[in-house]
Amino acid sequence: MQISLAGRTALITGGSKGLGLAMARAFAGAGGAVAMVARGEEALKAAEAKLRAELPEAKLAAVSADISTEAGCAQAVETAVAALGPIDILVNNAGTSQRGPFLQVTDALWQADLDLKLFAAIRLTRAVMPGMQERRWGRIINVLNVGAKAPPGEGAPTAVSRAAGMALTKVLSHEGAKHNVLVNALLVGIIESDQWVRRHAAEKRNITWEEWKAEQGKTVPLGRLGKAEEFAATALFLCSEGGGYITGTALNVDGGRSPVV
Ligand SMILES: NC(=O)c1ccc[n+]([C@@H]2O[C@H](COP(=O)([O-])OP(=O)(O)OC[C@H]3O[C@@H](n4cnc5c(N)ncnc54)[C@H](OP(=O)(O)O)[C@@H]3O)[C@@H](O)[C@H]2O)c1
Repeated sequence: MQISLAGRTALITGGSKGLGLAMARAFAGAGGAVAMVARGEEALKAAEAKLRAELPEAKLAAVSADISTEAGCAQAVETAVAALGPIDILVNNAGTSQRGPFLQVTDALWQADLDLKLFAAIRLTRAVMPGMQERRWGRIINVLNVGAKAPPGEGAPTAVSRAAGMALTKVLSHEGAKHNVLVNALLVGIIESDQWVRRHAAEKRNITWEEWKAEQGKTVPLGRLGKAEEFAATALFLCSEGGGYITGTALNVDGGRSPVV
């Protein structure tokens, strides 16, 4: 099946690394224009240069903004629209894996997690959804984790923020449907990305990255970690015309790791 995003413009938060960069590559490869949003300018520039080398025809914008603030969200959308035009596809992907014992999670940690994961999605959607509705075409993907459906112990605050993201997905899907704005969530298990490379390095255990991946892969029914390009292919399908009858769903992309469907 040939997937084309020609004529569509996507804004991907967290587009400089990991899953966001893989989605930027897949969407641009399918002919879409892509605004990659992240804070770090150096990583953004490197990501943009990498994609330009791979896809010389790609329409790309590297947008530096901190989406954990209201002003940062506004700035991200304004800059992306000025560079590439109205947003047809929003991928709320930027995030961290902030979790620990409940009694150690301070109000500040709760607030930071909700600002980055929930309020960014709310604010960015509020900014781009009216245009999608007017043009009668839109796709919103909220990247969450499997803890949204099956919150584990010591999963706060992230599992709670992610569960709220899943509820937001459903609410928006009901409201977007009559305007042909489709809203879905992708629930990540363990997929190779910069965040895991950092975690492997931080653990300072005497094992290689390949050994670390093999160890983690044993916790997954498919026996391995996911690849960022596999995740990106799923997101690309949801944003394509082929995904036109899917809305309001939360799909596990986890090699079967989640205990719930
Ligand atoms: N990979 C997995 O196995 C896994 C598992 C569960 C959930 N997830 C979720 O999937 C998403 C992508 O994960 P990943 O593994 O690709 O992460 P990653 O490799 O750490 O990349 C995170 C991206 O988000 C950006 N970002 C972080 N805070 C931001 C902020 N305040 N404003 C703007 N951009 C920000 C980062 O750039 P800057 O730091 O420069 O801003 C970077 O581009 C995240 O929401 C993550 O929680 C991933």
